[in-house]
Amino acid sequence: MIRILFVCLGNICRSPMAEFVLKDLVQKRGLSDQFYIASAATSSEESGNPVHPGTQKILHAKGISTTGKCARTLVKRDYQDFDYLIGMEGRNLVNMARILGPDPDGKIHRLLDFTSRPGDIADPWYTGDFRQTYEDVLEGCNGLLSHILHE
Ligand code: 4NP
Repeated sequence: MIRILFVCLGNICRSPMAEFVLKDLVQKRGLSDQFYIASAATSSEESGNPVHPGTQKILHAKGISTTGKCARTLVKRDYQDFDYLIGMEGRNLVNMARILGPDPDGKIHRLLDFTSRPGDIADPWYTGDFRQTYEDVLEGCNGLLSHILHE
């Protein structure tokens, strides 16, 4: 079982998008039983809240449901419970290090670093542009999956 935790600031926009996009990609390949995929926040601001309507809307258009997901905060124990802890942007990695401590096993990464254009996932919080975020997340998830499957 490969355990992946996506992390962003609030766990309502970017990281749940990555969670459900990757779940969809592995399901389409018939690999769902080999993966455990979840997401969490570095802040407790949105804790318990559902996925942002902007993320829900664009995923719904792709036939992907986020039903049942509510935001939860990253905790230190997540480091041992997951194989990959994937931030959406550089600032997430700084906050993840604060919560998780050192990364002796090299588990912490930034999502777009698994692609040919390393960088931060577009943040829709201020722009309202969930489409660009979706394009980034899809590219990142495809890159991450190829990395894991050694394609
Ligand atoms: P997310 O988006 O980190 O992608 O879930 C945000 C959610 C909440 C806030 C910022 C970004 N906020 O400032 O509360």
